[in-house]
Amino acid sequence: MKDIRDSLLFEFSWEVVNKVGGIFTVIKTKAPVTSQEYGNRYYMVGPYNHSQASIEVEEADPITPSVNQAISAMRDEGVHVITGKWLIEGSPQVILFDTNCKVAKERLNEWKADLWKKASIPSPSDDGEMDAAIQFGYLANWFITSLNTFCPSPIIAHFHEWQTGVCPVLLNRAKVEVATIFTTHATLLGRYLCAGDTDFYNNIKYFDVDAEAGKRGIYHKYCVERAAAHSAKVFTTVSNITAYEAEHLLKRKPDGILPNGLNVKKFSATHEFQNLHQESKMKINEFVRGHFYGHMDSRFNLDDTLYLFTAGRYEYRNKGIDLFIESLSRLNNKLKMSNSPMTVVAFIIAPAKVNSYTVETLKGQAVIKQLRDSVNYISSNISNNLFESACRQIVADPASLISPENKILLKKRVLALKRDTLPPIVTHNMQDDFNDPTLNQLRRLHMFNNDDDRVKVVFHPQFLNANNPVLGLDYEEFVRGTHLGVFPSYYEPWGYTPSECTVLGIPSVTTNLSGFGCYMEDTIVRPEDYGIYIIDRRLKSVDESINQLADCMFTFCRKTRRQRINQRNRTERLGDILDWKRLGIEYVKARHFALSRAYPESMAILEIPENLDQSLNSDGKISRPMSAPGTPPPNKIDNNATSNAHENDPNNDPSSEHFYSNLLAGLTMNLELPGVKIQDD
Ligand code: UDP
Ligand code: G6P
Ligand code: GLC
Repeated sequence: MKDIRDSLLFEFSWEVVNKVGGIFTVIKTKAPVTSQEYGNRYYMVGPYNHSQASIEVEEADPITPSVNQAISAMRDEGVHVITGKWLIEGSPQVILFDTNCKVAKERLNEWKADLWKKASIPSPSDDGEMDAAIQFGYLANWFITSLNTFCPSPIIAHFHEWQTGVCPVLLNRAKVEVATIFTTHATLLGRYLCAGDTDFYNNIKYFDVDAEAGKRGIYHKYCVERAAAHSAKVFTTVSNITAYEAEHLLKRKPDGILPNGLNVKKFSATHEFQNLHQESKMKINEFVRGHFYGHMDSRFNLDDTLYLFTAGRYEYRNKGIDLFIESLSRLNNKLKMSNSPMTVVAFIIAPAKVNSYTVETLKGQAVIKQLRDSVNYISSNISNNLFESACRQIVADPASLISPENKILLKKRVLALKRDTLPPIVTHNMQDDFNDPTLNQLRRLHMFNNDDDRVKVVFHPQFLNANNPVLGLDYEEFVRGTHLGVFPSYYEPWGYTPSECTVLGIPSVTTNLSGFGCYMEDTIVRPEDYGIYIIDRRLKSVDESINQLADCMFTFCRKTRRQRINQRNRTERLGDILDWKRLGIEYVKARHFALSRAYPESMAILEIPENLDQSLNSDGKISRPMSAPGTPPPNKIDNNATSNAHENDPNNDPSSEHFYSNLLAGLTMNLELPGVKIQDD
């Protein structure tokens, strides 16, 4: 009998030391809590990506002797594997398989044929992504299968997303007894269907999944995803909405939900994050001065300007960029009609195919930098002159302090601010400007950054980076400096972007079609009190959703500075509920469940962690902040008392088949919130 307490944990993901999107954020931010739980028995496994690994991995042999032995044996057979520590918080050990190594290339066709024979999964000849997934799957399977033959410890193999899905299929076909978990962060077919113009949620039960996948050229990948979901001992996803989708599109109901957390960092002084907001906002101000040079008239005052933004992979409809732009246009009208003193600068940050920054964008920043340098130079001259005359006991006439040369210099700089064109709506030269959906919608709505527009737009079709010559800030720094993140997604299994805003103390907008939005709706009595606005995209028509978003942004624009500061305080405090220290418990449960299925006879010796037991009986929601007026709506229960409804339920027995799903059904949506004290402002 294996000792469950000695289990080795392998977490497989394409995003290990490989920055892509939200799954990278899961893997990276979860590392500290998982490393704390498993120590040296934790390994992250991914494909080898030289450019990132050479910087972020400190090479070393695996610490566990059996793991080292299995890897050495593979190296002896010519497989190129990098092992070591990933230099991130938690310093997890990593195993990176090179899918481009000679062995993987030579054996690709053999593996493709084998996959067809064993699992009837086809693999076309011209799909590099599928080839890499197969190579990775076979290398991972080779490793786990051989390790399992001599490793004394139980093995947990947790696979994320379809790219790592080949291995659990192979393990299952060969009946290798390891505790496998497959977590899908979206379904391939769901993402594709939503990106088109399908009425996805109303038709989800009726799709002919094979035919739909075939039509979109993703049948082979869909097969991997579906087979992995059915092969793993435990199948999970990140939200209820994606669980529902998986049930219909992958035909297996997930055993549980693993909501995404973050590694929440608190400052010792609470006002610290407010100071950071101000600091970052100053940097955005500087960009805005450059971008809008020559058009910053008396109505465009940075003190009365709000920064709204959306960011994410460029999935125009799925990420709700269409809804955002349409609502911005309506917001523009509302601000104009109400004669509002506010200006909104709305950023759209989504990577598209681009060539470089436009000359106009670069020029704007250069012109403002020159102006700033000249003003600094002139001010220092003035300051010297003032000081010198004061030393001679003369109070100088201010007009005499600036020399004629300096006056000319200043006039030249001011003249350089004149321009005949409007401030650009996009910062880069797009490769397909003509067909770009964002630009086309902005054009259709005549959103050209005219002087009388109260809503200005800046489309930055590249992810942010502190090394960029324009808007040179890291994403986190940028978010801190903004006022509101707007993520009106149509397809969003979780959606880290609004959740990251919350943790940074920036209010955000999400929808009830995003995993995060639904989670917040189910966890908090009135999320909007905490700066989380949820747009209804489920029961409202598109037009109604657009109006709701426009109203929401308009109401936000009418807040005073004091109200914004108070709201940021509340938002920031809410961040605690998104910490992996709380949400990581769902991963613990998933592993337990997988172990109990793989090694039922060994489970008797396993102690259920105390907090796992406690969380069984909770159904409390976060109440409204004490400063918020009014009564909670009657349909929401504001109940901090714990219920003992499950106490006598036989399914609470961990050996029960329904233990885990019951636990999750009652838990993931109704979390107890130990230690979260929401105070009045
Ligand atoms: N992100 C980033 N740089 C940017 C914009 C976004 O690194 O300029 C990150 C963001 O921090 C988030 C991820 O991209 O963690 C997007 O994850 P999300 O779950 O919102 O969407 P996904 O791309 O996984 O569908
Ligand atoms: C933070 C800073 C304040 C600043 C405020 C601006 O709270 O600590 O000094 O006045 O941000 O807020 P606003 O919403 O106008 O950017
Ligand atoms: C996927 C989803 C996103 C989710 C992320 C992490 O990429 O699109 O909504 O946040 O995975 O789970």
